[in-house]
Amino acid sequence: MNQHTTANIDTDTAGAPREVWGSRLGFLLAAVGSAVGLGNMWRFSYATAEHGGAAFVLFYVFLTFMVGVPVMIAEFGLGRATRLSPIGALRKAGGSAWVPLGYLFVAAGFLILAYYAVIAGWVTRYAFDAVMSPFPPDAGVYFGEVTSGITPVLYHLGFMALTILIVAGGVKKGIERVSTVMMPVLGIILVGLAVWATTLTGAGEGYSFYLTPSFEELLSLDTVAAATSQAFFSLSLGMGAMLTFASYLLRDTDLPRESTIIALSDFSVAFIAGLVVFPVVFALGLQNAVSESTVGALFISLPGAFQAMGATGRAVGLLFFGALFIGAITSAIALLEVVVSSVIDEWKMDRRKASIAMGIIIALLGILPASDINILGAMDAVASEVFLPLGGLFLALLVGWGPPSRRLEIFIEGSSPAIRPLMNGWLWTLRIAVPPLLVIVLSRTIPAGIGAIRAIGG
Ligand code: PHE
Repeated sequence: MNQHTTANIDTDTAGAPREVWGSRLGFLLAAVGSAVGLGNMWRFSYATAEHGGAAFVLFYVFLTFMVGVPVMIAEFGLGRATRLSPIGALRKAGGSAWVPLGYLFVAAGFLILAYYAVIAGWVTRYAFDAVMSPFPPDAGVYFGEVTSGITPVLYHLGFMALTILIVAGGVKKGIERVSTVMMPVLGIILVGLAVWATTLTGAGEGYSFYLTPSFEELLSLDTVAAATSQAFFSLSLGMGAMLTFASYLLRDTDLPRESTIIALSDFSVAFIAGLVVFPVVFALGLQNAVSESTVGALFISLPGAFQAMGATGRAVGLLFFGALFIGAITSAIALLEVVVSSVIDEWKMDRRKASIAMGIIIALLGILPASDINILGAMDAVASEVFLPLGGLFLALLVGWGPPSRRLEIFIEGSSPAIRPLMNGWLWTLRIAVPPLLVIVLSRTIPAGIGAIRAIGG
């Protein structure tokens, strides 16, 4: 086994030596860092609010493990088997017909990071402001200040600069080191906040909205589409981020086990974030702001609630936005890494130059969503609801229906025999259930995405 492993590595790295993760835990925390981010705290809460609460959450858990995990195993497997970034990996695994999918992944990286860094910029501003002074009394006006004019552009550029710095530092010394320190901190803050939230008077209504399912909304196709794209976004799937991270792995990693742990961690963070957000918002009677949820809703209702809570609110707000910042930076580095690793592999550029050049282009692109929240909303609709499910669909087809020897290598190598039966189940889900589900989702989200683009002007 050992000999076989070594032989494989030698062949793969014959051309260019490839970085590897420092440890299993380092890889795991970097992948969890990629998954856990604004998606878990901002997007999850507003998607849950928009789609009726607990029933959405249940459906979302189901999708995370039935669809998310097999797609993640597929991505991880492709990355580890080819030890290449997305474009090269798809070329090697599927032939040149699959190269355009690699470009779609890189395009998604550009698009998502451009607006993601803008929201992360707002988060940074909220956290800074909480250090300096109490939250201002009118949360709506405050949100307007944070998101218009030149400040959001500056915060966005600052956030991008930090992202570039970490990615330029490399896989082990940059990405792995930052995630290893930051993810545990995020976990501790969030659990602390959730415990604190139980002490709020009036929190009960928030818990019941969040935890007692009513199934009316559940059967709507919109809810299915929203939960599916939320799962893809939150788990960083469908754009090669997990593929890229796995390309720095050695062969002996148990991919199904790692995928399950990552999915579990990602869901736990989202779930605990909900245990903070909903009690806070309902305790302060701000549920209307939530049910009419939009991209900005949480950024208004939460600071509003924190302001009403006085000094405690300020401390809690600082911790909340601090945690959000940690999630955002560890996800942003994964997004930039997809683009940078592709440029390194395809154009043979060195890491530092590639990080700076690509980072600057993305930072410039982000000036658009930083200046107009409708553009931001449209970019999110197109990238996370169309690009990611589309990427997932093709990944499922390639890994699920590609050459059987490859499939075996991708899915099974390195995994412990105990979970083989489970893996067969996942492989069949990937082949039979994932493609039709994603086609249905796309039939819904493509028109919605086009609508969002059209709505920008008017
Ligand atoms: N998963 C990240 C989040 O939840 C966002 C992300 C998407 C990161 C795709 C990398 C790739 O915030």
